[in-house]
Amino acid sequence: MAKKLGFYKCLICGNIVEVYVGAKGELTCCNQPMELMQELEADSSTEKHVPLVEKIQGGYKVVVGSTLHPMQEEHYIEWIELVVDNKAYTKFLAPDDSPEAIFMVEGESVYAREHCNKHGLWKS
Ligand SMILES: [Fe+2]
Repeated sequence: MAKKLGFYKCLICGNIVEVYVGAKGELTCCNQPMELMQELEADSSTEKHVPLVEKIQGGYKVVVGSTLHPMQEEHYIEWIELVVDNKAYTKFLAPDDSPEAIFMVEGESVYAREHCNKHGLWKS
């Protein structure tokens, strides 16, 4: 059973997909089951990945992280996602962008996730 808004990764080729509708079928890629990515929530190293969500007028600003994450060709934040009341909003980033995103949406239940190309998936 695929989990709604779950990120699944192929451990062979590196494809990552996000599930919009969770159904009973198993997600496969390269002839193998895809793995549900774990959402990490605590940094132990000096490099900070946990996204910080700040309420701003009319929306939210998300920054990665408490010290800004590097944005270099070989190591960067690939996307930042804000989930508001079970709706997902995504900003894709490139090396040399700032590791932050502004989402002009409001709601009751809010959390953010981001994906580092080296260190995986992180959740606020
Ligand atoms: Fe990283």
